[in-house]
Amino acid sequence: MSTPREPTGHELERMSRSELVELGGSLDGVQVVSDEPAHGSDTPDRERRSRRLVTLLLVLSLLCAAGFVWAYLFWPTGYVPPGAPGHTAYLLYTPLIGLTFFGAVGALGVALVVYVRRFYPDEVAVQHLERGPSPEKDRFTAAATFAEAGAHTGFGRRTMIRRLGLTGFGVIGIMGGLVAVGGLVRNPWRQGTDAALWTTGWKPTGDEPVFLRVAAGDPREIVKVRPEDLEPASILTVVPFRESERDDVEKNHDAEMAPDNPVVLIRLPAGTHVTNPPGREDLHHGDYYAFSKVCTHLGCPAALYDTQLQVILCPCHQSEFRITEGARPVFGPAARPLPQLPITVDADGYFVARSDFLDPVGPSFWEMRRGSR
Ligand code: FES
Repeated sequence: MSTPREPTGHELERMSRSELVELGGSLDGVQVVSDEPAHGSDTPDRERRSRRLVTLLLVLSLLCAAGFVWAYLFWPTGYVPPGAPGHTAYLLYTPLIGLTFFGAVGALGVALVVYVRRFYPDEVAVQHLERGPSPEKDRFTAAATFAEAGAHTGFGRRTMIRRLGLTGFGVIGIMGGLVAVGGLVRNPWRQGTDAALWTTGWKPTGDEPVFLRVAAGDPREIVKVRPEDLEPASILTVVPFRESERDDVEKNHDAEMAPDNPVVLIRLPAGTHVTNPPGREDLHHGDYYAFSKVCTHLGCPAALYDTQLQVILCPCHQSEFRITEGARPVFGPAARPLPQLPITVDADGYFVARSDFLDPVGPSFWEMRRGSR
């Protein structure tokens, strides 16, 4: 194939789109082997059927996207126990979100594939590729090739499909944006010292004691913890519990599900040497120590107890927290200790929290020092 003369910039600007496409092909060494009209639009009948199918898929995508936004914003998500009215709706939330999201993205994707297969000409071309960057002329010709392909498919003419397609992309963009920024809309500091990042479910309300309850996974199963429930060198995950909420299944479920509530209660072997951080010597009860289970690196549950080294290991990125030194990090990416929960035992022999954590729970954040006590 002979290489045509390089056109000047002025000549390029004066060339028509089809001339640029032709030039682009010959300059790039592209040889068209076959060029059949698009099989889904080569007769008016097929063209109509293809158009309807794509339209239907785009409408389906839009309906699913609208359903997703509606369910995300308005579907009731509060826990409803089995047997109570609304339990089925509670169970349906996650499948509904998943199905509508999948329907919106899936139908849009299928619509694109169908559109390309039915409306794009069936062309087979062969090209010899060269190394190195593209010269200026290639930019003109490539742009013209895309525009020509678009013109062949009639995307500009098919107003309905174009609008639905663009609207579909727009709504899916809104969906993505909603999920991404939805959590940023609320001001986390509005409640001052009671703001969610400073407090957890362990914060006392009035004089009512907050007990350490076994995290059993069932809001109806209430097991308060006593010292004799743990063997030496053992660990137990506990969550807060108040007697006034004994029959409140929803509150007990929420206490167990709240991400900042889980605590690991550890009983050290008798005689273990401990060096408590200054000012925090009395937060434990004998050999029993309670630390937040939420890793201060990225929030994974840190609950692997190495009884030889007396460290808690976080399985996500292998941070290790030395229990005998106030759970300070001794290995891995975590930069601050696991917050300690001050505990004691009440007159009936059950563990109770003496206050909320002294430090904010979970991964660090900018304003964190403000909330440390
Ligand atoms: S989340 Fe625990 S080490 Fe990264």
